[in-house]
Amino acid sequence: MTDSTELFINHLLGQMTLEEKIGQLNQPKAGDIIDPDVIRQGKAGSLIRSAGALTGQGSSGSDGADQANRLQRLALESRLKIPLIFGRDVIHGCRTIFPIPLAQAAAFNLELTQNAASVAAQEASACGIKWTFAPMLDIARDPRWGRVAEGNGEDPYHSAQMAASLVRGFQGDNMALPHKIVACAKHYVGYGSAEGGRDYENGEISEPTLRDVYLPPFVSAIRAGVGTVMSAFLDLNGTPATANRRLLTNVLRGELSFDGFVISDWDSIGELINHGVAEDRAEAATMALHAGVDMDMVSETYLDTLATKVQAGKVPIQEIDDAVLRILRIKHRAGLFDQPYTDPGRFAREVLTSDSRQLARQFARECMVLLKNKDNILPLQSFRKILIAGDFVNARGELFGTWSPDGHVEDSVPFEQALKATAPNDVDLWFAEDYDEAFDYALEADVVVLVLGEHPRRSGENSNISDLRLPPGQAEFVDLMLTIGKPVVLVVFAGRPLVITRQLHQVDAVLYAWHPGIEGGVALGEILFGIKSPSGRLPITFPRATGQVPIYYNHKNSGRPVTAGGWFSSRYIDLPATPLFPFGFGLTYTSFDYANMELSDKILRERITISADVTNTGKQAGNELIQLYVRDLVGSLTRPVRELKGFQRLELQPGETRRITFVLSEEMLAFTRVDGSKGIEPGGFQVWIAPDSASGLCGEFRL
Ligand code: NOJ
Repeated sequence: MTDSTELFINHLLGQMTLEEKIGQLNQPKAGDIIDPDVIRQGKAGSLIRSAGALTGQGSSGSDGADQANRLQRLALESRLKIPLIFGRDVIHGCRTIFPIPLAQAAAFNLELTQNAASVAAQEASACGIKWTFAPMLDIARDPRWGRVAEGNGEDPYHSAQMAASLVRGFQGDNMALPHKIVACAKHYVGYGSAEGGRDYENGEISEPTLRDVYLPPFVSAIRAGVGTVMSAFLDLNGTPATANRRLLTNVLRGELSFDGFVISDWDSIGELINHGVAEDRAEAATMALHAGVDMDMVSETYLDTLATKVQAGKVPIQEIDDAVLRILRIKHRAGLFDQPYTDPGRFAREVLTSDSRQLARQFARECMVLLKNKDNILPLQSFRKILIAGDFVNARGELFGTWSPDGHVEDSVPFEQALKATAPNDVDLWFAEDYDEAFDYALEADVVVLVLGEHPRRSGENSNISDLRLPPGQAEFVDLMLTIGKPVVLVVFAGRPLVITRQLHQVDAVLYAWHPGIEGGVALGEILFGIKSPSGRLPITFPRATGQVPIYYNHKNSGRPVTAGGWFSSRYIDLPATPLFPFGFGLTYTSFDYANMELSDKILRERITISADVTNTGKQAGNELIQLYVRDLVGSLTRPVRELKGFQRLELQPGETRRITFVLSEEMLAFTRVDGSKGIEPGGFQVWIAPDSASGLCGEFRL
């Protein structure tokens, strides 16, 4: 941080009354309908331009900048003229809706991720938003949890890479630039462990697991310079995250040197009363501030109670001052003191451009995961009469997914139009949403493409489900269509891994399309008709049955590992022990062979190089995601059976072979021990170069 920033904010702090200081810590409820005097009197440091998570519920359209400027003008009429910072959930695009975050993670393309976040920042800032409550960095091992859609899946390494790309995309190198916005790493920390997959629930995480699984994406976001962090709703190991001084102050600010500010989640300070750690609002406010929460999202407990507590000597003024300084620092870093207003002319020039749509289309294409392709039925090149049938036939906004309030349904090309535009000219495409109608058409069709899955309302915040199978009625529809005896391709739109075990065995091909965003229809057409080849990989394990969750690839071995087999090994007696699909899995329109794995040494001294040949053995060009995994065979604590340590993509022509090389360093093998220290331990390791987390070439080395 520069001295001039510190001088400026300290000088400002010196002029502030206690009320003005507490005002900076307050983010009041109302967005656009707030009492002007609240702002003029300096009782708000930020406004949340809140909206529901669903498409069209937003208010930041072409007049967003005007609305923000009107409110900002009031702030600049306050005594100290401290600008407001406008926050909003810009989660996977603003007006240009990109695939949902979980789908973005499936593309395993960090550059694309960063570019999409950069477009989101440009569009949001053109609407007067200077701060997004993203990225969501919660590791999720339970797909029942609706918020699995909002994060990067189950892997700490991959999620950490995504975190850095997203922060760089939103903030750039200089968040003061007009087209950049401040990012917010959320929900700190361990929120994905919510018991039973129910949102807002409590979680229990051991210290090593917290540090090695749940924390790494946050560490990465902080290293990338994230300006803010949001505390989680959950009660972790008995202490609500919003009241956890050890994690918010000692770890976040002490160990990780985070110098931005922390905001609570929506009313999570007030909810400390429900958690049963605070007796009343005043105690809740005191507790959260002391823990290290600088800004209060909407509970207004800070505004209502802190002044009295300070005057009574119950809250040290230093705690208030520290929080104010952190907020002013980010406002200053975000350039708000120099440029508090948004140019309303930017909207027409910078929102929903042909470039942003192209990017959205590329992302939609790259996130789709091909899970089955019997006899290469896809791409659909040898069929003339193709029926597209099922619940998503008329999908438009349904393709956007959760948290797309600023999306406009009419911006997306209707499904029918999108598929017609991408199909070969000599193909007859028929569409039927109605199941009976679909049955009749199918009698005449050469192939049936079923477009089924979840409505966006079925995933996202608090949209948890107890049964991961296809929504009611859809499995029966698949059964019915199969009676006709035509080849069937299943396309699944969803915000989470669904249990499609039954359908997988029934149909010829399965393409997992998630909620792919504004260009999802065209992207799907490009893949179905072979204009592009699928390349997405699963960022999360797919279970065979709901009862298998939590299920994740980087589990511990146990004393009676599943691989040992037999009655007394870890398993269910009514299911195979393996998942339906492992983390990292995904097919393409070609095939790849891995060979000639070599390690540069048998002993890792500082670093080791691992390489292998990858050959495209099929008839089409293809893009392969090559993954590096390790296993620490013996540790002072039990170690995961595999851990992802790297990935690279290779585009290979038919018959082409290229050598892929990974470098593994000592520090990449460090883990948290039972005493909390982090380090490496000598011994044997296995290493894989692999197409997914359950296969690959294996070698060994010692450390
Ligand atoms: C509650 C959600 O948990 C959080 O992710 C979101 O940013 C806030 N609401 C604001 O909408």
